[in-house]
Amino acid sequence: MDRKITIVGAGNVGSTTAQLIAEKGLADVVLVDIVEGLPQGKALDIQEACPLWNSPVSVKGSNSFEDARGSDIVVITAGLARKPGMSRDDLLQANAEIVKGISREVARTSPDAIVIVVTNPMDAMAYLSHRVTGFHHRRVIGMGGVLDSTRMRSFIAKELGVHPRDVQTLVLGGHGDQMVPLPRLTMIDGKCITDILPEERVEAIVERTRNGGAEIVGLLKTGSAYYAPAASIVEMVEAVFGIKDEILPCSVYLDGEYGIRGVYLGVPVRLSREGVREIVEIKLTREEEGLLRASAEAVRSLITKIEV
Ligand code: 2OP
Repeated sequence: MDRKITIVGAGNVGSTTAQLIAEKGLADVVLVDIVEGLPQGKALDIQEACPLWNSPVSVKGSNSFEDARGSDIVVITAGLARKPGMSRDDLLQANAEIVKGISREVARTSPDAIVIVVTNPMDAMAYLSHRVTGFHHRRVIGMGGVLDSTRMRSFIAKELGVHPRDVQTLVLGGHGDQMVPLPRLTMIDGKCITDILPEERVEAIVERTRNGGAEIVGLLKTGSAYYAPAASIVEMVEAVFGIKDEILPCSVYLDGEYGIRGVYLGVPVRLSREGVREIVEIKLTREEEGLLRASAEAVRSLITKIEV
């Protein structure tokens, strides 16, 4: 395999991502975690499944970043997860310390990597990782919008009894309580959802999307979601490798796009081997613009609370 992905954090999100990457044969995988035996055990288990998946990749677990050397992509999932009643923002200080340490190691061992940040509060952690690695902001990307959009798609597909492939959604803004699902651009077989469902149903779906992560935390009680987050990471990996060419909502550094500067925020982008190839600026209504700005300010207020 001439592609190598390191996944930092062998918890549920990290190990499920490793599994999906191995199953699809996308790249050799190194799973890194500080807990001795955990990444090694999970990696070995995944490696042993590869013959059944007809997958030639190598899957290795490690407690050292030395094994991560020269990765094409590093996915940062390590950190504390929410408990019921917590918001993603409550994890700020504890996870900032974790992401800082990891980012230094990534810069030292994989200086040319694309970094995908998943640890919450994700937009602030992506900003932090960009600053600590010193990587160009186009090479550090946060995962949030793909997850929020697939959640919204699944709710709509179930509600209307249609195949999810016929549903298009777009969720912009921070991956937090102020995310911005866009009903105006939510299409079912080419028709806008606002022409199909009554306003209160649309509003309920928007609200459920905003609370999508918390709904699962409330059910699991001891952890947060991981199947859909892992599938969302893999969607971004495939876009970076050019296996899929699609516009994805990702958290990226805005430098004046959408009239916003100096924060990471979810907007539609095209990804490539260089990271963010293009930020796609779609025309928003005045109300949507206001919601996006409010979401940007929520992220900004988190960023100002962390020391780089
Ligand atoms: C979620 O929304 C973990 O932030 C992630 O489930």
